[in-house]
Amino acid sequence: MQIEYSLVPDSQRKSLPQDQSALSFGRLRTDHMFILDYADGAWRNPRIVPYGPLPMMPGAMCLHYGQTLFEGIKAFRHADGELYIFRPDQNARRLNHSASVLCMPNVPEELQLDGLLRLVDVERAWCPSAPQSSLYIRPFMFATEDALGVRPAKTYIYCIMLSPSGAYYSGGFSKAIRLLVTRKYHRAVTGGTGTAKMGGNYAASLQASEYAHKLNADQVLFLSADNNYVEEVGSMNHYHVRKDGTFIIPSFNDSILRSITSLSVLEMAEKGLLKARQEEVELERFLDDVKSGEIIEAGGFGTAAVVSPVGQYVLEDGTEITVGDGKVGAYSRALYEEYTAFQTGGKPAPQGWLFKVPRY
Ligand code: PLP
Ligand code: COI
Repeated sequence: MQIEYSLVPDSQRKSLPQDQSALSFGRLRTDHMFILDYADGAWRNPRIVPYGPLPMMPGAMCLHYGQTLFEGIKAFRHADGELYIFRPDQNARRLNHSASVLCMPNVPEELQLDGLLRLVDVERAWCPSAPQSSLYIRPFMFATEDALGVRPAKTYIYCIMLSPSGAYYSGGFSKAIRLLVTRKYHRAVTGGTGTAKMGGNYAASLQASEYAHKLNADQVLFLSADNNYVEEVGSMNHYHVRKDGTFIIPSFNDSILRSITSLSVLEMAEKGLLKARQEEVELERFLDDVKSGEIIEAGGFGTAAVVSPVGQYVLEDGTEITVGDGKVGAYSRALYEEYTAFQTGGKPAPQGWLFKVPRY
């Protein structure tokens, strides 16, 4: 499909702040966005236009019944000055999985990638290069039909917006985070929408996050609905490292998002770059193993958060359980360094992981 361009004149374009070290996560916007409309059973009218308000009626079904989904991807500026996007094909595939869960139409993967590469090409001046920074790419899709019956909508908008960003947690990689283990709140349940990257799952995690902040924790470790198994964090998969250096990621089930970071770590293990596997993680045994030192490190994996080590687990009765010495451990550090070297060009990435942004 031919993508139409309607660009801001060069003289009116904004630009990256001089001091890239001060970039926060997700606050800045670039000059343009990519849009695609769905109506009468087909996607149409792909275009790159100035970033601005989207047309939508008050009865748009996304506002009432929550048919909204999104993805998170990063682009990096390498030493050769070119931009490289990390595994966007995986995100395009997962977006269609989320769409299927929410009874929304799939968006052809080639069209998602074409829109994304062309938009990033237009906005290449916006991609930062400071340590821990990236051009964060946010594709999303929502129901626009003006109707109040509860059913899948017939019209949608798919959009991609960009945000030059710094680290997700303000302390960056070097500060271990504190996770609240809650039995009170759950993010997703068996048979629900936990494998979809949809707005509702994040709305469902907010009460728990507020509760975590009250109990002096940064984020929440969500458990299975029966409270017996470790599942994931509100914006990351969970991992722990056993004494022999093996990374353990909870087995994917239908209440855990299939993290592309986790999948990449598992692929690194297949290539012999580290030891990693998935298994069900029983909560009580996990906490005992942290206390006894069988588990020496833990943390979260995600696009925005990359590798975020956990220093303490906080229980609802106020008990604190420290992982190792409570600081960022050597296995997490080595993985973070290798993974980010693949992303930023410090080391050659596995075949097919980086998509170079063409100069169209
Ligand atoms: N789990 C949840 C709930 C998330 O929001 C994210 C973030 O995208 C992840 C896991 C990590 O997934 P990925 O590595 O694909 O970013
Ligand atoms: C990402 O890691 O890209 C995410 O989407 C997490 C987000 C909720 C900030």
